[in-house]
This record gives sequence, C-alpha cells and structure tokens, in this order.
Amino acid sequence: MENAHLKGRRAVVTGGARGMGYAVAKRYLEQGASVSLWDLDEAGLSQAANSLSSLGTVSYQQVDVSNFDEVEAAARQAGETLGGVELLVNAAGVAGATAPVTDYPNDVWHQVMDVNLNGIFYCCKTIVPMMQSANYGRIVNIASIAGKEGNPNASAYSASKAGLIGLTKSLGKELATTNICVNVICPAVIDTEMLKDVADTHIAYMLSKIPMGRMGSVDEIANLVEFLSSEGCSYSTGAVYDLSGGRATY
Ligand SMILES: NC(=O)c1ccc[n+]([C@@H]2O[C@H](COP(=O)([O-])OP(=O)(O)OC[C@H]3O[C@@H](n4cnc5c(N)ncnc54)[C@H](O)[C@@H]3O)[C@@H](O)[C@H]2O)c1
Repeated sequence: MENAHLKGRRAVVTGGARGMGYAVAKRYLEQGASVSLWDLDEAGLSQAANSLSSLGTVSYQQVDVSNFDEVEAAARQAGETLGGVELLVNAAGVAGATAPVTDYPNDVWHQVMDVNLNGIFYCCKTIVPMMQSANYGRIVNIASIAGKEGNPNASAYSASKAGLIGLTKSLGKELATTNICVNVICPAVIDTEMLKDVADTHIAYMLSKIPMGRMGSVDEIANLVEFLSSEGCSYSTGAVYDLSGGRATY
C-alpha cells in the first residue's frame, strides 16, 4: 500500500456490482482509493461491497444511471460520504437486442440510449463540479469497439457507444485546462456476465474479428483504467484507447 498511487483519491464506479466495474473498484481499493459503487442491482451491490470491504473504504448506492434525479441525489450523497470525488468510471451499460434495424424494438433502442449515453452524461454533469472544486479529476468512460466500427445487428449499442466517444472528446476539450482528464476505452469482447445477454452467433462474429483470437479479461481492463486514473496520465484527454486484441485498426 505504501506505493499505492491512488492513495487518498475518492472514486465513483458505476456498474460496480459486477464485471468491469467490480474489477476496477477492486483495483482502486488496492491502490489506496476509497470507492462508492453505483449500480441498479442492490443485491449485487451489497455482495460486492462485502467482498471488497477488507481492501479499503467502500460504500454503495443503488442508482439507475438513466434517471437524472437519482443520479443527482447519488452524486450529492457520494460527495458527502467520500468528502468529494476525483475519479469517475462509467462502466454501467446494457447490450440491448441482437436484431437488424428493421426489427429492432423501439423501446429497447431508447433503453440502450438512456443507459449507455444519457446516463453517462448525467453522471459527468453531476460529478464534474466536485472535480472542479478539487482542481483535479480523471474520468474513464467504457465505450466499445462497436462504437468505432459498428457491429451489425447491434445498432442501438453501436450508436450509443459512438455517442459516448463523441461526449468524451467534447468534455475532454471543455475541461482541458482544468487538470481533469476525460478518456474513453473501447474494448472488443471481454469475459463478463454481459455476454449472457448476447446471442452466441453474435459473440462468435465478434471473436472472429479479433487477431489475438481470445476474449479480454476484466483485469486487462483494470490495468488500463488504473493508468488513465493516475496522475501519470497527465497529457491525454478526449482520447480513445483500444483494448481489442488487435481488432482496432485506427
Ligand atoms: N463485456 C464486453 O464484451 C464488453 C465489450 C465492450 C464494452 N463493454 C462495456 O463495458 C461496460 C461494462 O460491461 P460489463 O461487461 O462489465 O457488463 P456487466 O453486465 O457485467 O455489468 C454491467 C453493470 O451495469 C449495471 N447496470 C445496467 N444498467 C444500469 C443502470 N441503468 N443503472 C445502473 N447500473 C446499471 C448492471 O446491473 C451491471 O452490474 C458496459 O458499458 C459495456 O457496454 C462490454
């Protein structure tokens, strides 16, 4: 812990009940940060907080990131509990349907946009002022290679993640002189429970595009998030980082 380079930092991690969010929260705690886990899944949150509690200060809040009032209340609460927030990782997300545009259900389209894009706007909008007060911040958004390339039969997901890349670039420039860096990661396929909501044929399609021929792990996500959350990440903002086993070509 002596060399922990996130010592004293205060963090909100959305989607923290499981998957990438959980792995990032664990890494943050190991590196000395205190963490507020945000998620829809209350049972998952409580279980996650229990299993992480031996590593450091961890609290949780049940929040639907697609609901602005809930996000605003959670941000206020996190500010009080942690005493401020300098790190934000937006990992909450949903996959939506696997269907062509012509059959894509309107309600699922809207839900995917509400969670994957509007939700991250709400979290940034309510948490950035605390970073501005601290004169320091690091935001890491989790988009997807689908947002750069567009996966067939995943139009809402691809569009929401492309929107998130645009939001990151815009916010990064807005905050460029404030010591707050905003970056986005585009993973290819990562081995998490989210894949249970994705058709096997679609997973096979995505894997076939990856030169390394394998899924990534949540630890590999945490490695990059750890760097992007550190003081060492001081000259990179509004940037798109690939974690795609070689799939991304630009
Ligand atoms: N797994 C992959 O292959 C992959 C690839 C690229 C990008 N991503 C993205 O990475 C992020 C994390 O994915 P994961 O694989 O860890 O998924 P996951 O399904 O394991 O975890 C996502 C978490 O988000 C929470 N969540 C969903 N909707 C929410 C809402 N409205 N409010 C609050 N919390 C909500 C879920 O309860 C869950 O705990 C997502 O944004 C996902 O789109 C995943």
